[in-house]
Amino acid sequence: MCGISAYIGYREAYPIVINGLKRLEYRGYDSAGVMLFDGTNVQLSKTKGKVSALEKITEEEEERKVGNIGMGHTRWATHGVPNDVNSHPHTSQSGDLVIVHNGIIENYDTIKRELITRGYSFQSDTDTEVLINLIEEVKKTEGFKLGKAVQIALTNVVGAYAISVFDKNNPNEIIVARLGSPIAIGIGKEHKEFFVASDASPFVEYTKDAIYLEDEEMAIIKIGKHVKVRKIKNDKEVKPTIQKLKMSLDQIEKGGYDHFMLKEIHEQPKAIKDTFRGRMLPLEGEIKMSSIEDHLDKFLEANRIIIIACGTSWHAGLVGEYLFEDMARIPVEVEYASEFRYRNPIITNKDVVIAISQSGETADTLAAIKLAKSKGAFVYGVCNVVGSSIARETHSGAYTHAGPEIGVASTKAFTTQITVLTLIALKLGRANGSLASHTFNDYIKKMQLIPRQVEELLNIDSHVKDIANVYKDAKNCLYLGRGFNFPVALEGALKLKEISYIHAEGYPAAEMKHGPIALIDENMPIFVIATNKGHYEKVVSNIQEIKSRAGKIIAVVTQGDVQVKEIADHVIEIPDTVEALTPLLTTIPLQLLSYHIAVLLGKNVDQPRNLAKSVTVE
Ligand code: G6P
Repeated sequence: MCGISAYIGYREAYPIVINGLKRLEYRGYDSAGVMLFDGTNVQLSKTKGKVSALEKITEEEEERKVGNIGMGHTRWATHGVPNDVNSHPHTSQSGDLVIVHNGIIENYDTIKRELITRGYSFQSDTDTEVLINLIEEVKKTEGFKLGKAVQIALTNVVGAYAISVFDKNNPNEIIVARLGSPIAIGIGKEHKEFFVASDASPFVEYTKDAIYLEDEEMAIIKIGKHVKVRKIKNDKEVKPTIQKLKMSLDQIEKGGYDHFMLKEIHEQPKAIKDTFRGRMLPLEGEIKMSSIEDHLDKFLEANRIIIIACGTSWHAGLVGEYLFEDMARIPVEVEYASEFRYRNPIITNKDVVIAISQSGETADTLAAIKLAKSKGAFVYGVCNVVGSSIARETHSGAYTHAGPEIGVASTKAFTTQITVLTLIALKLGRANGSLASHTFNDYIKKMQLIPRQVEELLNIDSHVKDIANVYKDAKNCLYLGRGFNFPVALEGALKLKEISYIHAEGYPAAEMKHGPIALIDENMPIFVIATNKGHYEKVVSNIQEIKSRAGKIIAVVTQGDVQVKEIADHVIEIPDTVEALTPLLTTIPLQLLSYHIAVLLGKNVDQPRNLAKSVTVE
């Protein structure tokens, strides 16, 4: 949560920092702020609201935009309500030190009390202001340079942080540090300029050379010098790895679409293809994944697979449960990472844990991984963001290759996670003999068709928009599905809630009669996934039950369906495929539906209220 964007060099820092913040708004957007240093003065501008609100304020006074050093922040509030004062950057009591912070300092209250006894007073309710004053106190009492003072202060805090700190008395350097929250450093030509950000997107057009700090590392960034990285705890110098960024500018821009979410929905055919690339080899009749092959015995000897994730990734995990059990006959449990980590779970070295995360930074998932590792489990990661904390923390893993996902409501990350899980399930099923070669080959053939089928499905956009128009004013909605499509119903409901703020619930279709049926009346739209596979007849019966209670039915059916078409108020057709692959198709109209309802209601599709894309706090 929270985005950091900073610059130190020879260019005007303001546009770089502000554009960087806009790209990081997916991390939080309840308040924003920027510090500019013009060689003499520190100018601070902060406001409640989005980066666009911050721009408005700074537009009023030109001098607020001047300087070759700048640090900006977009916030997702943890300590203190989102208002101007609590917005970052925060300054120390003397006004000399400035900080932007992503994370939580858990013992801030104890430190604050101690600092108050030493004469400090506080303007905001934030833990961050406590941290910058602690740094100032260490600097003052010990006579340390900024870097050393930051290091000592950090050894006294409990919590998580990515920070960038500036001292106006030593203005050619910035100190950054990380524990639990990501931070990347972009290195300009000949070390004449540097960029600091929560991910590399703010500086992708300026440099492709980046250092990602590891946990408990800090960096001293000085103009004209190589970046120095040290371990915070033992002060040991570490040789930083400079990575070549693969991200390109057009990947992080809207490319003609009104919203990132719509762009990302439309990117799914390509994203799924990219996830296959080099892995699915139809000619050889094989799935190639060295991350599995290198640890095949772990998977084949596993007592069970435990999938851990949060949010949409958890829904993908549920689809994974059906896939693994069906194709590879391996028992699977799917856990919310936040519950798993605190319930003293029974884990042994015979368990394989699969952690799924788009961002690779979700705090609960990361903590659950560490717990599973400590108990001896083999942990495999399915992440989208390359080099993310989860990707690094796991023993092995596969990237989804969906490309940057910026819309807060996850779309292409979900379908590509399911794609990776399908590939793994097929591979394991073949390896342990659960899948006969002809069944395996048939799956591969059908799988190959999916990107084209998704593409075809995207043509129903205007039909879905018409349906959205009919139901946009609903107060409550139900989403029903069975088998492989039960998790899709959950995901459909989540998408609607997230971006339109309409209350929606997903249910296994048969469970409807144990409660939700009481809610049904003529005002209740019910989205039912009723493809012609698996439990079709049973779902048809569920639809009849709804109809008898005057509920409105919008059904996702297979092309050519006759039976449901006769009963439903609206149908949306998907191309035919095998049951196990239907989630990759049925989810598409539900994404489009949520998107159109949110747009019709005038909601902020890409940045829904209170949500953040990457949740690095508990
Ligand atoms: C947040 C996002 C969701 C996402 C969840 C898990 O709540 O808004 O879209 O599904 O975190 O994130 P992860 O990056 O671990 O998949």
